[in-house]
Amino acid sequence: MTDPILVLDDARLSLDGNAGRVDILRGITFDVARGETVGLVGPSGSGKSSLLMLIGGLERATGGRVSVLGRDLGPMGEDALARFRRDNMGVVFQSFHLIPTMTALENVATPLELAGAPDAFERAEAELAAVGLASRAHHYPAQMSGGEQQRTALARAAAPRPAILLADEPTGNLDGPTGEAIMGLLFGLRDRHGATLILVTHAPELAARCDRTVRLEDGRLAGTPAASAARDAAARDEGRGARPDALTAAAE
Ligand SMILES: Nc1ncnc2c1ncn2[C@@H]1O[C@H](COP(=O)(O)OP(=O)(O)OP(=O)(O)O)[C@@H](O)[C@H]1O
Ligand SMILES: [Mg+2]
Repeated sequence: MTDPILVLDDARLSLDGNAGRVDILRGITFDVARGETVGLVGPSGSGKSSLLMLIGGLERATGGRVSVLGRDLGPMGEDALARFRRDNMGVVFQSFHLIPTMTALENVATPLELAGAPDAFERAEAELAAVGLASRAHHYPAQMSGGEQQRTALARAAAPRPAILLADEPTGNLDGPTGEAIMGLLFGLRDRHGATLILVTHAPELAARCDRTVRLEDGRLAGTPAASAARDAAARDEGRGARPDALTAAAE
């Protein structure tokens, strides 16, 4: 693959909590080409959101390498990482992360202002109109439905025309026609601006529109030896009436 925009090389994420160390991502290796659209799929708890956080530089890999646009994120300081993200990436979180004290318009305009756009508010208005929220521009997040907040978060991430857009369940709270419109907007970013899209999704229609899907299972890519071994062991144990956590235990 020439000039990948994203390189994950044995990327790992382990976190220490009060319940001990949790290995959330256990060695993820794959590349994404510029302009490619990748659907990140897998069961709940398999590590999809965590992987998006690693790629977005919001969590640091505890092992391996994450490289975006040829930059290794590991050694970058917090400020450099924040600037790099602002200039190159848009992120839509599973829980939206809108700023509660700002209206929809202010939420969308803020990253444009930070990037020095002189027409931040006009552009933000156009972005909100593009997600069907022209009439909600002056609403605060608490005055909007879940789907409206989600569309605002998407408008905010898309407005600076990032090279990479990371979105966690971008159609998760949307009904059919609105979901369709959002898919159109996402793929429009690719078609018109060459954006690379990495989309976590449970929606088969959205996954099917991606160039390819990457499936996570228990913190690993599905089909890698350890993931297969865990599945096999769990299947064997099921026959003996093992507890449902056998899959996790078998992966250790
Ligand atoms: N801060 C944390 N500390 C400890 N464990 C965590 C932390 N964040 C996530 N996890 C665990 O890591 C695993 C992966 O979580 P993640 O949110 O990435 O899953 P997911 O694939 O996005 O799931 P879903 O489809 O439900 O959103 C889960 O088992 C979760 O409980
Ligand atoms: Mg998630």
